[in-house]
Amino acid sequence: MNKKNIIVCICGGIAIYKTCELVRLLKKSNFNVICLMTQEATRLIKPELFSYICENKVYIDIFSANDSYDPNHIKLASWADKIVIAPATAHMVAKLSAGLCDDIVSLTVLSTKAKVLICPAMHENMYKSKIVTENINILKKRGYKFSGPIKGNLLDRKLAMGHMQEINQIFKSLKQL
Ligand SMILES: Cc1cc2nc3c(=O)[nH]c(=O)nc-3n(C[C@H](O)[C@H](O)[C@H](O)COP(=O)(O)O)c2cc1C
Repeated sequence: MNKKNIIVCICGGIAIYKTCELVRLLKKSNFNVICLMTQEATRLIKPELFSYICENKVYIDIFSANDSYDPNHIKLASWADKIVIAPATAHMVAKLSAGLCDDIVSLTVLSTKAKVLICPAMHENMYKSKIVTENINILKKRGYKFSGPIKGNLLDRKLAMGHMQEINQIFKSLKQL
């Protein structure tokens, strides 16, 4: 990957703990990494953890806290060479397919010209629901790339579809974008 600026978007899914490993791997491979988190994601893991491992500020709010005239999402959208969303919740997939953009992740993704890799993770019943399938198909048609989900042990410990793609595979897919 000769493009060096990667934005990692983090949504409120249980697979969030694995995203720490993805950020570590990207940093180890010398990428500049900025993490964006939805408000729901910050209820599962504190932003400080991502800030320490990506060695950068973590963005959560749409509005800048300071007196900057440069909105966060515009700066971020043009800074990124590639964007990965991991985990991508059913909620985020729905928002993106509808063009809704009321949080830093959806707003930045809608504003960017960078390639976007989406890594959904959710319960099998959600993943196999008609509405999620339709939303994913809409996004595929619009040029978004997907990695996973795969079969694995879900939150209820059952082996089923909906597990987030393995981190090494997400890294490979990101390289191939
Ligand atoms: C413990 C817990 C785990 C969750 N895991 C998932 C998940 O893996 N996938 C998913 O789509 N939603 C999951 N949810 C539901 C999302 O958190 C919820 O839909 C939220 O609104 C997503 O917000 P976001 O897309 O802005 O991050 C989970 C909720 C809780 C409380």
